Amino acid sequence: MTLAHLEPVAPTTKRPERPPEAYLPMQRLTRQIAFEPDAWGPERKAEVTALFDGLAPEWHTRGGPDRLKPTADALVRGAVPARGRAIEIGSGTGIHTGVLVEHFDSVVSVDLSTEMLGLAPRLEGNFLLRADASRLAVRDSSVQAVVCVNAYLFPAEYSRVLVAGGRVVFVSTSGERTPIYLPPEEVLEALEQVTEIESAATSRCGWGIWTVVALAG
Ligand SMILES: C[S@@+](CC[C@H](N)C(=O)[O-])C[C@H]1O[C@@H](n2cnc3c(N)ncnc32)[C@H](O)[C@@H]1O
Repeated sequence: MTLAHLEPVAPTTKRPERPPEAYLPMQRLTRQIAFEPDAWGPERKAEVTALFDGLAPEWHTRGGPDRLKPTADALVRGAVPARGRAIEIGSGTGIHTGVLVEHFDSVVSVDLSTEMLGLAPRLEGNFLLRADASRLAVRDSSVQAVVCVNAYLFPAEYSRVLVAGGRVVFVSTSGERTPIYLPPEEVLEALEQVTEIESAATSRCGWGIWTVVALAG
């Protein structure tokens, strides 16, 4: 499957510098999770939960004015059908949930971290769920989109819960310097290993990079 590269949308502010040691270790883990089903287990889950529980109080200080744009752009230019039911993976404190609630009929926001979920806003059409994205308590073929904004890709689980023709939306709000990041080609490759793909597109918007993959209908 070829990946369509759409025109980039330039940032309006300068992306802050970030040293490689601030994102490379997490990028390695993100790649392992996407390509090695055994990479995620109880120990790793406990470590990741503790990490994000600890980061929750200062999570709102991260990013800047360009932070929300890539997700909104992915939904529009990535031609993600509006309406239907979406799952937001690793929703954190809900920074991106409002954009998703505007687009879909309902959004289930899933996160491992109680501390993160505790800071999320209560929005109409949105349900917060403390759960592990590697094993979603959701029926097979029952959601129109799985959205990961700075969140891990569990290819087999997402393809299980998506309807035929459903979309995986993978957004990295600090582009290649996002800790939970996979290059667009690898997002596609990881999904191709578990299911048939209809089409895939990627672009840059602001500091971010997004990839939208449509499963076969
Ligand atoms: C980098 S933060 C992103 C938060 C939010 N999406 C944002 O961009 O502001 C990653 C989030 O994923 C959650 N997370 C990590 N592994 C997860 C898993 N297996 N299932 C559900 N949530 C997970 C973490 O607790 C954390 O809140």
